[in-house]
Amino acid sequence: MKVTVFGIGYVGLVQAAVLAEVGHDVVCVDINAERVENLKKSIIPIYEPGLTPLVQRNYEAGRLQFTTDAAHGVQHGRIQFIAVGTPPDEDGSADLQYVLAVAKTIATYMESPKIIVDKSTVPVGTADKVSACVAAVLAERGVELGFDVVSNPEFLKEGAAVADCQRPDRIVIGTDSPAVEEKMRELYAPFNRNHERMIVMDVRSAELTKYAANCMLATKISFMNEMANLAELLGADIEKVRQGIGSDPRIGYHFIYPGCGYGGSCFPKDVQALVKTAEKVGYVPALLKSVEQVNYRQKDKLFAHVHAYFDGDLAGKRIALWGLSFKPNTDDMRDAPSRVLMEKLWAAGAVVQAFDPEAMNEAQRIYGTRADLSLMGTKEAALRGADALVVCTEWNAFKAPDFEVVKEHLKHPVIIDGRNLYDPDMLEAYGIAYYGIGRGRSVATS
Ligand code: UDX
Repeated sequence: MKVTVFGIGYVGLVQAAVLAEVGHDVVCVDINAERVENLKKSIIPIYEPGLTPLVQRNYEAGRLQFTTDAAHGVQHGRIQFIAVGTPPDEDGSADLQYVLAVAKTIATYMESPKIIVDKSTVPVGTADKVSACVAAVLAERGVELGFDVVSNPEFLKEGAAVADCQRPDRIVIGTDSPAVEEKMRELYAPFNRNHERMIVMDVRSAELTKYAANCMLATKISFMNEMANLAELLGADIEKVRQGIGSDPRIGYHFIYPGCGYGGSCFPKDVQALVKTAEKVGYVPALLKSVEQVNYRQKDKLFAHVHAYFDGDLAGKRIALWGLSFKPNTDDMRDAPSRVLMEKLWAAGAVVQAFDPEAMNEAQRIYGTRADLSLMGTKEAALRGADALVVCTEWNAFKAPDFEVVKEHLKHPVIIDGRNLYDPDMLEAYGIAYYGIGRGRSVATS
């Protein structure tokens, strides 16, 4: 099938490449000419395992094209994906200006009926706004052409996006039109084999499904972080509690890992956006607000531990930091807990010696060159001459360090672990002071 994808960001690029891989003829349109030219040379704007060869292979096979020519893009696909960003505006609501600009572009150039698919994460009611926008432009042009607007949210996880897209656990389609449903079934048929993954519903329910999924996951995390904070005060070990509750299949083991708070491009933004959506319809989303508040506090926790360990005397202290990205297998530092920690350490006069397997360039881009941040080439180099070690991200490379080496390098043998990677008893045996999240021993409580 002929498909056009507007927006070659994270979601658009992965979806386009995966559709091309199964044989669809995909044109990607973006207003960023540099990005388009780079993609033609297989220079990918993001770090995502498996994406570069996928893009390269399909570009060379001619099934995946990149262009800034919107008119060409609109002519090409019967199906037009909108996969542009919906950043939060000043009050935290999702900003729809880019989505509506694409809708306008499609309406301006279309000469045949189109199925317009909202792939971006958009608030409930956006499909209606897209419809109204397209209808208005068509009316201005004085042409009568049929179009449908479908909601088809994505559920990709950064670091596993290609696999998630190739083997989705569900494909949510919001439409009231049986003809559109049939076309979407044809599009996704290669991903819907062996058992039914397609869940078809009305447009508004599909739009809310995306937010409900992310908010549920964020709620699980904040709940566990609250339990961890309690465990710390009560002398219990949250890791034991986690296993104890996860064994109940109604609760399950997924997404109940306590830590230094959730970050990334989705959870913080989506929880905030749903709070705003709720408030706009006169509902007070008490639970969602608490989920946000708990997470906000949790991101302070690592700093609170360091601050308490050094009795507030952080001026001139050197802190080794392992992990800058908001989670492993990505270089994304959006809303990463590491940023809250670093910024607080700097404000207190400390120096950070950081290492991350992928996010060093991103850290350089965000913070530039500053005297109180040293980006080190290895995790061992980050330890040299440091007063303490803080772990922010659970990269595999950090899971089994040589603790003798860690101890040797640190001026004060202490590890503050935001991801509960290590066994407290083992570290005690090494003579290293250890503070995890909710592990029954605390230097700081919040
Ligand atoms: C998330 C959703 O999982 C995905 O379905 C949606 O489409 C986009 O948002 P992503 O942001 O890539 O994906 O990351 P995810 O792996 O879900 O982790 C989000 C955050 O939660 C990370 O900061 C992670 O460290 C944290 N987390 C996750 C926990 O603190 N504990 C857990 O048990 C799981």
